[in-house]
Amino acid sequence: MEVIAAKDYQDMSEKAASLIAEEINKQPAIVLGLATGGTPEGTYQALIREAGSVPLSRLQTFNLDEYAGLPPEHPNSYHFYMKEKLFLPLQLGANQTHLPRGDADDLQKEAGRYENHIQESGGIDLQLLGIGENGHIGFNEPGSSFDSRTHIVELKPSTREANARFFDEKEEVPHHAVTMGIQTIMESRRIMLLASGTRKQEAVTNLLEGKISEDFPASVLQKHPYVTIIADEAALSGV
Ligand code: GLP
Repeated sequence: MEVIAAKDYQDMSEKAASLIAEEINKQPAIVLGLATGGTPEGTYQALIREAGSVPLSRLQTFNLDEYAGLPPEHPNSYHFYMKEKLFLPLQLGANQTHLPRGDADDLQKEAGRYENHIQESGGIDLQLLGIGENGHIGFNEPGSSFDSRTHIVELKPSTREANARFFDEKEEVPHHAVTMGIQTIMESRRIMLLASGTRKQEAVTNLLEGKISEDFPASVLQKHPYVTIIADEAALSGV
């Protein structure tokens, strides 16, 4: 795994955006895997600033996950997050951007449909990832099978707690989500994981130095041939 050390959050975000822009420029068509949470927000802002020099018509995007039960127009849904923070500012067409529907009547079926859609689009060229404090990637919590494809997960209390800051009330955080599986993520041709702040220090140390185990989902990345980790000094301070 290649590690790029950034000074701080801003530097991490700019380095990540440059790398994404470089990848888009390099390929005649590109499928980008996108992440949500606080970590990639700065990267999206930097990407919007660089948008003039990036041929966005080449882009198809697939997000990692969505909360179960939240419709796209819900302000805490990842549909809403992506629309607000990236898709509208970049003026990406609805046919270019994809997320699983958390409000589907049959969530199981929706997970299968989403997985097939990713495969039919040729798979992910560059997958952007954050990391949960407990090592989750997407919403693949500790104990998730390394063979998993897009599926429904029950969120750990610690994950609901960590994400409660985005909701008015802690009780509003959904208990379930639909997420790309570990196998889906691992089939991406390139993976870029971002981490910032002391809150992520332990997870980053584990990711780089821990043993590969389903108890710490991100550790699977040690087996991937092309991973770039962009982390700031605070996140790297335990390594
Ligand atoms: C959520 C998302 C993950 C994200 C993680 C870390 O649970 N499903 O994709 O990486 O949180 O979030 P943050 O970047 O806010 O720390």
